Amino acid sequence: MEDQAENLREIMRKKRGASEPAQDKPKEGKRARVITITSGKGGVGKTNVSVNMALAYARLGKKVVVMDADLGMANVNVMLNMIPKWSLYHVIRKQKTMKEIMVETEYGISIVAGASGFSKIANLTEDERMNFIEELDTLSNADIIIIDTSAGVSSNVLDFIAAADDAVIVTTPEPTAITDAYGIIKIIATEIDSLNMGLKLVVNRVRTVAEAKKVADRITNSAGQFLNLKVDYLGFIYEDTVVSHAVLRQRPFMVIDPKCKASLCIQHIVGRMEKSDIKESGGFGNMIKRIFSGN
Ligand SMILES: Nc1ncnc2c1ncn2[C@@H]1O[C@H](COP(=O)(O)OP(=O)(O)OP(=O)(O)O)[C@@H](O)[C@H]1O
Ligand SMILES: [Mg+2]
Repeated sequence: MEDQAENLREIMRKKRGASEPAQDKPKEGKRARVITITSGKGGVGKTNVSVNMALAYARLGKKVVVMDADLGMANVNVMLNMIPKWSLYHVIRKQKTMKEIMVETEYGISIVAGASGFSKIANLTEDERMNFIEELDTLSNADIIIIDTSAGVSSNVLDFIAAADDAVIVTTPEPTAITDAYGIIKIIATEIDSLNMGLKLVVNRVRTVAEAKKVADRITNSAGQFLNLKVDYLGFIYEDTVVSHAVLRQRPFMVIDPKCKASLCIQHIVGRMEKSDIKESGGFGNMIKRIFSGN
């Protein structure tokens, strides 16, 4: 499998050398930080966290791309009231490049729309997968790539987690969400060979700091005790009516009210992310390894 990944890299290198203009290459020493947002249970706030974290990063002067990796039911564009003409579907089908489908929003972030109605990446042919990975690599010009995934563990979600420098698991205090958050951490621990990424936890929709801490302790302690895995508690987001109001208006809550409780929490979370280091061997190299490890 290593050989296969090595071959792929070689092909990609050659292809690029022959066809790609120099200005498209990432600057020397610069690499995008890839943050994958995921959860066990659906509807816990992943898309809100993805989009609003992106805005908080943009406020710090970062160039941010949000990629909607939900290949079944895309929703980043819905949250931003955008109807993109092209999506990942066209990239996978080689009709468009990732750069061509990337759209700038009025909020200073760019988005790559998901492919509604598309099945798992695992079902793509090798050629299609290679094209997809190559295309992902061209987004490396950004500072931050936030990948919003669908809930649960399909193999494409695991690919996106393996590709990340940081995997942020979102949960709420609901017992089912907690159980499922632990469940996905367990799957990550068993399915992804070398965990080169930082595993981080966000507790959404809490009423008090103490409630958030209790939920975080439960999950991080269990992961440590039973899986021997370090999960960092990144922070919490208050239950806030501005969030559902913003969703209805199809505008990010960071835009509707940058000073509301949820917005302040998101900014705190991004502040903590900025303080945590990227592990060296995460990112796209990992994505290639993972995709060619047979899953
Ligand atoms: N902090 C919050 N306060 C109040 N409501 C919230 C909060 N976070 C999320 N919600 C509500 O939960 C809904 C679902 O959020 P979101 O779409 O971000 O979840 P998701 O995890 O991306 O869902 P899916 O698994 O379907 O992709 C939102 O429409 C909003 O109404
Ligand atoms: Mg979502």
